[in-house]
Amino acid sequence: KRVVLSGIQPTGVPHLGNYLGAMTNWVRLERTSSPQDELLYTVVGWHALTLPQDPKALMESRIDMLATLLAIGLDPKRSVIFHQDQVRGHTELAWILSCLTPVGWLRRMTTWKSRLATSRNANDESEVDESLLNAGLLTYPVLQAADILLYKATHVPVGDDQTQHLQLTRDIADHFNRTFKQPHQKHPYFPLPTQVDTPTKRILSLKDPSSKMSKSAPDIKSRILLTDTAPQIQTKLRSAVTDSIHGITFDPVNRPGISNLLTILSACSEEPIEQVVERCRDYGHAQLKTEVADAVEEMVREPREKFERLRKERGYLEQVAKEGAEKAGEKAEKTMNEVRKLIGLA
Ligand code: TYM
Repeated sequence: KRVVLSGIQPTGVPHLGNYLGAMTNWVRLERTSSPQDELLYTVVGWHALTLPQDPKALMESRIDMLATLLAIGLDPKRSVIFHQDQVRGHTELAWILSCLTPVGWLRRMTTWKSRLATSRNANDESEVDESLLNAGLLTYPVLQAADILLYKATHVPVGDDQTQHLQLTRDIADHFNRTFKQPHQKHPYFPLPTQVDTPTKRILSLKDPSSKMSKSAPDIKSRILLTDTAPQIQTKLRSAVTDSIHGITFDPVNRPGISNLLTILSACSEEPIEQVVERCRDYGHAQLKTEVADAVEEMVREPREKFERLRKERGYLEQVAKEGAEKAGEKAEKTMNEVRKLIGLA
């Protein structure tokens, strides 16, 4: 039996990176799973608190994110769709795991390092200054490990940027398993979860193809949102940074901008990348951008329309969230009862 779990932060509408890097796999796994497999998808409200949030906006984004999960085609009858903050076990297990996690492991996370790099000492600009960052930014990957282990997940469909967090989850699980191993116990308590990749596990920024497409980049033209209209998609793609090399080739190292567009086109049109490259070989850059824009629009149209409809159905969304939290809560409580016994706090 497989247990699939993944999560997304309720900080604004998902972009093409979230969608092609992770969420398309969530829907695919729903279609390809066997009946005994369990699938859980969660909106991670606790994680959003690592950065300052406006409470009113967060409340809206949290509901919108649930609507998005349904809009991309997830079926709440098949998958458990829930708000992380409505299931108690997440924070409890996170605390227990944080007491088993060396701080050194957390300081090694690239997400922490990049936060640190932007936090300079006021007196000496060349010194990075930890004292300005909240502890949640450091311990956030432990909460993510708790999200996964609480359901004893075996498969985690995420984008490339979560690889390090998933390795940490396995390290923490392994550490727990060894620390609390019972005599005569046949299997390790927590399974070590496997990452599930999409063929497009890293979508790049349209404005800076040396970095990933991200929700927090200041230039809104660097990302395409699932709610963008056809003209917005056209405009953003027209201004995408490429290069001055003639013709179209797939060369992620030397031509990251063009290659990113080809990757997006291949994912949207569900064509192998070689076929896309062959077909577009003699295109100009502008022609390629128009074709990518059309393909993106074609792909997002249905989820966008469904999202606009669903986000207004507050009663229905609340019902889905309530049922999801109940189902997730039952599974979580089962694990927590076992964990409390194992650690001596039953
Ligand atoms: P978040 O909310 O930043 O992103 C959600 C998912 O989108 C993927 N992603 C991308 N994939 C490809 N290219 C990109 N440019 C790109 N940008 C984002 C992410 O890899 C992710 O899969 N910590 C997580 C949320 C989380 C979680 C979990 C995930 C919390 N608990 C448990 C899995 C399991 C995060 O901040 O994702």
